[in-house]
Amino acid sequence: MFTRALRYAALIGVLFASAHKLHAAQQEHAANSPAARANLPSGEELFNKHCAVCHGQDLKGVGPAPAPYKVPPDLTRLSRRHRGKFPESYVQDILRNGALLPEHGMAQMPAWGTDFREMHGFDASEVEMRITNLTNYIKSRQIK
Ligand code: HEC
Repeated sequence: MFTRALRYAALIGVLFASAHKLHAAQQEHAANSPAARANLPSGEELFNKHCAVCHGQDLKGVGPAPAPYKVPPDLTRLSRRHRGKFPESYVQDILRNGALLPEHGMAQMPAWGTDFREMHGFDASEVEMRITNLTNYIKSRQIK
């Protein structure tokens, strides 16, 4: 009887300790997650820093650019131009790879995937999180 109680106590102790360890490991994981490490700027901050120079802080474009540059498109009308649905993967693709519109000549929309990675030394998940934040920000600014 006594030994059984002891065994139970030991078992409960082991369970409790491993649950505690798991919890600690989860917390550690959260602290080491890319989001915590990257100290990620919001989509709005990223946009104002990297994109507003061409697309304007209001996302409507800064107007005519001197030749041979193209006029950056109005980014508040993406949903409207895609039948009311925000073209999320299209935007993400452009951010990763640049605008590949060979029929328009050289793509003048810079590729931010490689830029964020090479110029700022971010790893792949940090680049993806920035692209996600930027995409969500542009999505939040669509006119109806
Ligand atoms: C050097 C100027 C410049 C900068 C900086 C720039 N863009 Fe662009 N962007 C353009 C131009 C020009 C186009 C049109 C490309 C084309 O037609 O070949 C474009 C196109 C786009 C498109 C496609 C729009 C459409 O109507 O299909 C998106 C989305 C976009 N940019 C988002 C961004 C975001 C987000 C940033 C910041 C990370 C950014 N751009 C930074 C010039 C720029």
